[in-house]
Amino acid sequence: MCGIVGVTGTKQSVSVLIEGLERLEYRGYDSAGIYVNDQTGNDYLVKRVGRISNLKNALTDDIAGTAGIGHTRWATHGVPSEVNAHPQFSADERFYLVHNGVIENFEQLKQEYLADVNFVSQTDTEVIAQLIDRFVVDYKMDTQSAFLKVLHLINDDSSYAFVLMDRETPDTLYVAKNKSPLLVGIGDGFNLVASDAVAMLKQTHTFMEIQDKEVVIVKPDKVTIHDFEGNEMKRDTFRVDMDASAADKGTYPFYMLKEVDEQPAVMRKLVQEYLDEDGRPTIEAGLLNEMKKADRLYIIGAGTSYHAGLVGARMFERLTKIPTQVFISSEFAYEQPIMSEKPFFIFLTQSGETADSREVLVNIKKQGWPSLTITNVPKSTLSREASYTLLLHAGPEIAVASTKAYTAQVALQAILAKALGMTCDQQAATEFDLKQQLGIVAVGMQALVDGKEKLESIASRYLSEPRNAFYIGRGIDWSVALESALKLKEISYVQAEGFASGELKHGTIALIEEHTPVIGIITQDRTAGLTRSNLQEVVSRGASVLTIAAKHLAQPDDTIVLPDVDPLLTPLLSVVPAQLLAYYTSLGKGLDVDKPRNLAKSVTVQ
Ligand code: AGP
Repeated sequence: MCGIVGVTGTKQSVSVLIEGLERLEYRGYDSAGIYVNDQTGNDYLVKRVGRISNLKNALTDDIAGTAGIGHTRWATHGVPSEVNAHPQFSADERFYLVHNGVIENFEQLKQEYLADVNFVSQTDTEVIAQLIDRFVVDYKMDTQSAFLKVLHLINDDSSYAFVLMDRETPDTLYVAKNKSPLLVGIGDGFNLVASDAVAMLKQTHTFMEIQDKEVVIVKPDKVTIHDFEGNEMKRDTFRVDMDASAADKGTYPFYMLKEVDEQPAVMRKLVQEYLDEDGRPTIEAGLLNEMKKADRLYIIGAGTSYHAGLVGARMFERLTKIPTQVFISSEFAYEQPIMSEKPFFIFLTQSGETADSREVLVNIKKQGWPSLTITNVPKSTLSREASYTLLLHAGPEIAVASTKAYTAQVALQAILAKALGMTCDQQAATEFDLKQQLGIVAVGMQALVDGKEKLESIASRYLSEPRNAFYIGRGIDWSVALESALKLKEISYVQAEGFASGELKHGTIALIEEHTPVIGIITQDRTAGLTRSNLQEVVSRGASVLTIAAKHLAQPDDTIVLPDVDPLLTPLLSVVPAQLLAYYTSLGKGLDVDKPRNLAKSVTVQ
């Protein structure tokens, strides 16, 4: 949450900051601001409420600088307003600071060191800017020492990514992070820092990692890193070969539609990355041997990633016979269940930065348990901190509503489950022709996205008016119902629930009234008839019923018919119509599909 960019050493700093912020807008979009300094005594601070476009419109030609910092905000402390937008600054207007995260002990710091200061904002960030100023001006410390002193005063529960500028040293960015993402981009005669590599890809493909609790000094021609004890740290650079256009919308009206359309290609990419010519998984033996030792697998995730885990658990149990449990990360973090003797943890996280999931990872590492992160973002926090990483290779997912990352998570869990099952000598795993099945999935997904007009008209007919809607299914279809309902509610604001079909009549059926949409997902032989009976029960009470059914179970009046595929892989197909129904419902209501209210893509606060 919140996006940060900083640059030093280029006269183009305003455009670099704005382009970077536009790339980071998915991280928060309730207000934005920049501070630039031209090193000849002129500096500018511009902040606006709302989207980056509002900030852009406020910029005039005279606003220029050779270094600057920018921020796009998802409010934690204080309402979205210009005063609370970042950069925050010290009362003497010497220090300018952008921050992503939460300073848990900011009230104590305020009382202890700044009782005489009048604060203009309600943010924790202003406290840090004022505190740095206090140590520099009143305690005569140099800026780097004052910055380090303040970092030491911030308690360990806090999260931050900071970029600080001092008017007295305007070519220097003072940088530090703890739990929140931030990395350095190495340019030719200039350097950058940002929350995500995509914000810097137009300027560079060479990056340098920042670890938690380091102080990084970024100048136009030099980057130095010290740990909190003052030891200089050596750090290699790495390349990201992704094309900047991979994060562009192209001709699509919204990222979400582009990302839904990319799903067949993502399936093929995963086959290419993780299965050999004969369909044998190529996952590293070290990981599989470690997993084989486990007496229970624990899958941890939030939101859509949790839903992907619900599907994955079925795959692991069927193909490996290792008991598998799935947990919502924010629940597991504070109420750890009685654990098995030899647990192995699988973290599912598109961003690799979700604070709730990271909290679990930190806890289980302290207990000495091994872990794997399955993520879309190389070198993300959860990737770095887990024992192993598998990448989703889905390409940048920008829309807040996760689509291709979900299907990539499901498909990669299937590959991992097959690989682990084969390591455990499970016949079902050996016989599972995943390469062929994922090929069928890719073709089926293509047919579904090619037929999207049908879903547009269904969305406008059934979902544009009602307040409530339900997705129902049993077993693996229920898992998809949960994800389908989340998609619909987060971008269209229809109150949607995913329900186990059999459970509906135990209370929730009371909500069914004339024309309440109920969408049944029917892909499993054992439960198809039961779910159809449950649909009849709601039809009798006035519901408008739609069905998403597998071909071999289809009936003439089913709404969407899916190609047949292995029963474990049906979520890869059944979720696609649900994604498109959510998209078109949101579009039909004239909403900003990619940036729904109150949300941000990467949830880096607990
Ligand atoms: C779903 O569309 C949301 N974007 C959200 O539920 C998301 O899946 C959740 O915040 C977890 O994010 P992660 O996968 O990056 O950890």
